[in-house]
Amino acid sequence: MSTPLLEIRELTKRFQTDNKQVQALHNISLNVEKGAFITVIGPSGCGKSTLLRIIAGLDAAYEGSVRLEGEAIAGPGIEKGFIFQEPRLFPWLTVEKNIAADLSLRNPGVRQRVDELIQLVKLDGFAKAYPRELSGGMAQRVAIARALLRKPKVLLLDEPFGALDAFTRAHMQEVLLDIWRQNGTTMIFVTHDIDEAVFLGSHIVILKPRPGEIGARMDVSLPYPRKKSSPAFQDLRYKVLSQFERVEELSWGEAGSGI
Ligand SMILES: Nc1ncnc2c1ncn2[C@@H]1O[C@H](COP(=O)(O)OP(=O)(O)O)[C@@H](O)[C@H]1O
Ligand SMILES: [Mg+2]
Repeated sequence: MSTPLLEIRELTKRFQTDNKQVQALHNISLNVEKGAFITVIGPSGCGKSTLLRIIAGLDAAYEGSVRLEGEAIAGPGIEKGFIFQEPRLFPWLTVEKNIAADLSLRNPGVRQRVDELIQLVKLDGFAKAYPRELSGGMAQRVAIARALLRKPKVLLLDEPFGALDAFTRAHMQEVLLDIWRQNGTTMIFVTHDIDEAVFLGSHIVILKPRPGEIGARMDVSLPYPRKKSSPAFQDLRYKVLSQFERVEELSWGEAGSGI
């Protein structure tokens, strides 16, 4: 078998605060194959952002190993794109300049790629617009285009649609799937929304809290495009939900407090 794109082995993460230690992640092992769309689902505080930050190379203080194409992750870099809940655009730059960022639009290769990405994220006609003229969903699409311009090996998305209303969110999920199918970028998408995880994921990883541990993983055979109202979708949603409820019961029992 070939080496997976991303290989996480026995990853444990502890935070040391003034007088106590918090264990955020416990013994996480996970392989991510090239081209997969992994959704990671779990309640708030279960370590989802911590996991993504470690994969991104933003936090190097952990036990275990995390390898991208067989190489230990040495720090942040463009091969690991990161999308936050808020788009983090430069307000004084137009859409196309936000996407290009430190690259010059005078370079014909960059120009062409930026134009293609504007189409890919469905922002035709908005190249010269400023962030204040965009809706939340459009701004997040600019952030995605900016990350894709760097041709990342993996795109890490930390609850990227969490701040959007339900309709915009549903639209963004479809746009992201289109991008994935056209571009083939490997995705690791963190959410606490079960519908979102089931709608998007080719594989679903369920994290249970305190400490964050893999509770279950599922390979999803449901073909795309998925219909949220279809019986097959509802079946799968129910399966994930029941795993999740088991996980919550477990964590309530162990920690004696809510989420
Ligand atoms: N910088 C930090 N210092 C101390 N504890 C932290 C820090 N970052 C996260 N934690 C703790 O680690 C756990 C996981 O947090 P986080 O990864 O943000 O969860 P999630 O993204 O799933 O909501 C939580 O208990 C949180 O309080
Ligand atoms: Mg988080």
